Amino acid sequence: RQNERESLLIALEYASKHYEKNLHQTPEGQAIGLAYFKERGFSVKTIETFELGYSLDSWEAFTKQAQADQYSLPILVKAGLTIDKNGRYFDRFRDRVIFPIHNLAGKVIAFGARILKNDKKQAKYLNSPESPVYHKSKVLYGLYQAKKSLRDDDCYLVEGYTDVISLHQAGIENVVASSGTSLTSDQIRLIRRFTPNITVLYDGDAAGIKAAIRGIDLVLEEGMNVKVVLFPDGDDPDSYVKKVGGTAFKDFINQNSQDFITFKARLYMEETKQAASGDQPFKRAEMIREVVESITKIPDAIKRSVFYRECSALLEVDEAVLIDEGNKILKQDA
Ligand code: CTP
Ligand code: MN
Ligand code: MN
Ligand code: MN
Ligand code: MN
Repeated sequence: RQNERESLLIALEYASKHYEKNLHQTPEGQAIGLAYFKERGFSVKTIETFELGYSLDSWEAFTKQAQADQYSLPILVKAGLTIDKNGRYFDRFRDRVIFPIHNLAGKVIAFGARILKNDKKQAKYLNSPESPVYHKSKVLYGLYQAKKSLRDDDCYLVEGYTDVISLHQAGIENVVASSGTSLTSDQIRLIRRFTPNITVLYDGDAAGIKAAIRGIDLVLEEGMNVKVVLFPDGDDPDSYVKKVGGTAFKDFINQNSQDFITFKARLYMEETKQAASGDQPFKRAEMIREVVESITKIPDAIKRSVFYRECSALLEVDEAVLIDEGNKILKQDA
C-alpha cells in the first residue's frame, strides 16, 4: 500500500531529524552523544554527512513528541520507532547514538543504535526491525553515500557502520557495510549495479575470517570478482585507518589484497603450521578441494578455466585433476 509506505518514510525522516536535533541542540545530546562521536574521531562534517543522532535517556521522549506532532501510534510502531508492549508505548531507542540507514534514493528507512559504553548486559547495537520499507537483507549501509565513487572504484565491503564512516572521513568513499547480518545475494546484486569488483575488508578476528570465506562464494556465484584483505587480529577498518591514516590504509589494501585462491590457500597453510600434525598431505588435499569448490561457484566457464590454471600453478597440482574434481562437484550440484 503506497500510502502506508509514504507515511512510514515521513515518520522515519521525522525521527531522524529528531535524533539529529537531540545530538546537536540538547545539553544531554552534546555532553553524551556528540562527545562520544568526537571521542571516536568523527568530525562535525562527517557527523552531518551521515546524519548521526542521539536518542535521549527517556522511555517516551520521542513517542510523546511525535504524537504531539500528529504522528499516529500505529505508524510509529510499524516504523519500528515505538514499541507496543500490551498497549503501553515506549521508545525503542533510548540513550544510544543513532546511525540512520538510507535507501538508494537517500530516504531514511531504518536505524542502527549503539550503546555508549560497552557493557555485557545490553547488545552493543540495536537495529530497527523489518518493516514494509526496511528489508535488512536487501540493504547495504553506506551505499547511498558511496554511490558516486563506486562508478570509478571497486567496492570495499566492511562489517560495520563505523568502518564505513571512518573510511569515508579518511577520503575512502567507495565503501559499504553488510552491518552484521551475514551477507546476502541481494546485497551483492546491489553492488553489481555499480561495479563488478568487490574487496572484502572484514574484521581481523575469527568471526571476520569465517564471514569472508562465506562472502567469497556468494560474490563468485553472482559472477563478480572478489579480493580479500585480512587485518591484523583485533583491528577492523575503522581502528586501522585511525592508526595509520587514509594514505597508508590504501597502501595496505593494495599490498595485502589477495585473490580468493591465495586467501584460502594461505589460511590452510597457516592452520597446517599450527596443527603441526603428521597428516599434511591430507590437509593439503582438503585445501585444494576448498579452492576448487569456490571455483565451481563461478557461472562463466571461461573464467572458471582461467582460475583452474592459476590454481594449478599456485598450488602445484595438475590442472586436469582440478578440472576433473570441479566437474564432479558441478554434477553433484546439478
Ligand atoms: N552488529 C549488530 N549487533 C550487535 C553487534 C554488531 O547489529 N550486537 C552489527 C553492526 O552493524 C556492527 C557490525 O555488526 O556495525 C559489526 O560488528 P562489530 O565489529 O562488533 O562492531 P563495530 O562495527 O566494530 O562497532 P564499534 O567499533 O562501534 O564497536
Ligand atoms: Mn536526510
Ligand atoms: Mn567483529
Ligand atoms: Mn568491527
Ligand atoms: Mn569497530
